[in-house]
Amino acid sequence: SFDQIRPLVAQHIREVRDFPKKGINFRDIMPLFADPVLVNELCIAIADHIRNSIGHIDAIAALEARGFLFGPQVAIHLGVRFVPIRKKGKLPGQTLQASYIKEYGEDIVEIQHDALKSGDKVFLIDDLLATGGTLRAAIDLIAKSGATVSQAFVLIKLAPLKGREKFPEVDLVSLISYD
Ligand code: PRP
Ligand code: ADE
Repeated sequence: SFDQIRPLVAQHIREVRDFPKKGINFRDIMPLFADPVLVNELCIAIADHIRNSIGHIDAIAALEARGFLFGPQVAIHLGVRFVPIRKKGKLPGQTLQASYIKEYGEDIVEIQHDALKSGDKVFLIDDLLATGGTLRAAIDLIAKSGATVSQAFVLIKLAPLKGREKFPEVDLVSLISYD
């Protein structure tokens, strides 16, 4: 469960000051991947959470790049589709776009126009919530597809940046919160 793995995951998150810009306190999740058993337990805990608290979903969506470290694994555990949300210009064919501002820059994200269909229930995963620009854009893209976000999940929430306030209509679960 989340309560069992939370302290173990927290031990694997490294703080890097002034990265990628001065003043940013970067939370590096890469040390977690030195422990594949723990990564797998985390992805199973997310899948169990979805089964127990949401029930049926049609797809897992996650954001390039660090959301891709978890999303596909959770989708495999549940036996549902994985839908990638990528930075502009990376996905072929017709796409839908949303632009946004995040903690250290500006970006455009895209989803393939036929990746989701009207009425699909989607569980959205990313590694970290900072200002909330990224998740807001992802939620808007999923809505443009006609689908709805049942719930969003992040490993890490940076509480003082108040990203949560950018998408009050969507339920959010975070594993670890920093003040
Ligand atoms: C980081 C992080 C989140 C986003 C959070 O991604 O992985 O997606 O920023 O910031 P926000 O809440 O202020 O929008 P980044 O764009 O750095 O890309 P990466 O995952 O490709 O490294
Ligand atoms: N993405 C946006 N802000 C971040 C931070 N402080 N640490 C890691 N990833 C981030």
